[in-house]
Amino acid sequence: MHRNFVLKGTVCYSQSPHALVTLPDAYLVCEEGVCAGVFAGWPEAYRAFPLTDCGTKLIVPGLIDLHVHAPQYAFRGLGMDLELLEWLAAHTFPEESKYRDLGYAREAYTAFVDALTRGPNTRACVFATCHLPATRLLMDLLEASGLVTLVGKVNMDRNAPDGLREASAENSLRDTRAWLEGIEKRYERTAPILTPRFIPSCTDELMRGIAAIQNEWGLPVQSHLSENPGEIAWVRELCPNAAFYGDAYDQFGLFGGDVPTVMAHCVGSDEREIERMSEKGVFVAHCPQSNANLSSGIAPVRRFLSRGLRVGLGSDVAGGCHTSIFRAMADAIQMSKLRWRLVDADDKALSLAEAFYLGTKGGGAFFGKVGSFETGYEFDALVIDDSALAAPFTLTPEERLARVVYSEGESRIVAKYARGRTVFAA
Ligand code: GUN
Ligand code: FE
Repeated sequence: MHRNFVLKGTVCYSQSPHALVTLPDAYLVCEEGVCAGVFAGWPEAYRAFPLTDCGTKLIVPGLIDLHVHAPQYAFRGLGMDLELLEWLAAHTFPEESKYRDLGYAREAYTAFVDALTRGPNTRACVFATCHLPATRLLMDLLEASGLVTLVGKVNMDRNAPDGLREASAENSLRDTRAWLEGIEKRYERTAPILTPRFIPSCTDELMRGIAAIQNEWGLPVQSHLSENPGEIAWVRELCPNAAFYGDAYDQFGLFGGDVPTVMAHCVGSDEREIERMSEKGVFVAHCPQSNANLSSGIAPVRRFLSRGLRVGLGSDVAGGCHTSIFRAMADAIQMSKLRWRLVDADDKALSLAEAFYLGTKGGGAFFGKVGSFETGYEFDALVIDDSALAAPFTLTPEERLARVVYSEGESRIVAKYARGRTVFAA
């Protein structure tokens, strides 16, 4: 399985939001799919492992997308003149309805998985649709790609058109159980995640039923939270007994604690919501490009970090138009500068090291020991040829990384590994 090997190159990884490690001419050891360490020389103990000398190429952890919609890849970039709720009604729901047709799903999901495979992300939390055959097909394609993903069949039994809305809570729950039973033990790298779309899409009965399935199966949960002003106001009307949006999930037992939970956006999260997420260990998937495209706003990421929340980055395709989490890093930095300038002068802008941390180790924590090259971390890595970004002066490794982040598309990934397995190598 080629899970024992050594890569030599310019190794960069995060230890913490402030500690970006860069080591030129370093030996990065993969042993049984796990990082056994980064060394200045080739250790005696690993001389039997095959060595690939990558020269001065950058070697970084695979990137983590904590929030992406597979069925939205096909229409990325369209409808971007609308806000969230109008965009869902005019573009998203009609498009997602098409995934009842397995032929359509095959064409669209193949393109999505190809793009994800070629790009820098090795892990993703993926929304599918409510359709079982298409969701299973997506999982088959992702499994074959070598990427490591959590995939959710979407639950939605209200406030959507007939072709997409599930007929009842009972139907939705029955399908969810059938989906879980049908894929049990089928995959090595692809696992299910419960996916109530968001509060406006799910009746109380459905939410209670999802919580019961969660209890039985012990699965993680993903959803949307406090994304856009119109949506937040709607949830306030729908849930008069909830103290705030996140409290509505919490009342159903679907908000962290013993339930590994990732919530996308949190643009409008107030102090109470931040406090609850902190108490319950809820992960935030920060999706800066989507938040700009759908006029949602600028999430208070600096506040999340200083309050110790667990935060990663999401592409939120097709709210965002780019699958690459390098792009999300640059967007997160840029949006944080606008927030500092226009919204709150106490919210200092994100640094490159912080954004890189969010897109690797920060989001990786949702998958376990993932997103770093510290010893014991699962071996997800990218070898990057950034020679097209060379300058007539010498760049430090950190400066080279900054250019890769900001000049997404101008560097080339020449090899990609997930859990020590080769996804591709040139
Ligand atoms: N809220 C509910 N569904 C969606 C979706 O598909 N995309 C985004 N960005 N927000 C949502
Ligand atoms: Fe989303």
